[in-house]
Amino acid sequence: MTNYDPKALNEILAANARREGALIPLLQAVQNAFGYVPEEAIEPIAEATGVFPSQIYGVLTFYAQFRLKPMGESAIRVCHGTACHVGGAERIMDRICEELGIEEGETTADGKFSVEKIFCVGSCSLAPVVQINGRTYGRLNENAVGRLVRRIASQARESSGPSEKAPVEKPGAERGRKGAD
Ligand code: FES
Repeated sequence: MTNYDPKALNEILAANARREGALIPLLQAVQNAFGYVPEEAIEPIAEATGVFPSQIYGVLTFYAQFRLKPMGESAIRVCHGTACHVGGAERIMDRICEELGIEEGETTADGKFSVEKIFCVGSCSLAPVVQINGRTYGRLNENAVGRLVRRIASQARESSGPSEKAPVEKPGAERGRKGAD
């Protein structure tokens, strides 16, 4: 699903493209508008900035902040900051991807879930940490995160309408929860 709108892109280009060194702020503005940088936008961005499309792709793939695909309805973010890295973030990421059948940075075919890497979210004492729809789950291991993802995925797929996302419990309800049971 894409919400790309060429008219909105033209407005962003008109406001940003001619400024010196404007490529990154321009790409940020495009991503803010659409939730990602659509492939269809690359050529118009190249024309407006005079930067080759290959260079634009280079910037988009170099900086982790940019995405070339729309986000899923639920974002699963795996912290790869130092404490989480040491605590097994790679294994956590692998397990989540395995459960959902996608790779890091991808969205499931039904558009329900995206998985991405993030860096320290300030909950290092709970490492390794995963955020799902903004809620933090800490002290996870592969088994615990596998169960968590299966539960949330089954809830999301059984539901419909606005409640398709995982139910949001009180902030902090999961903070400090031992996931390694
Ligand atoms: S390193 Fe993951 S929360 Fe700080």
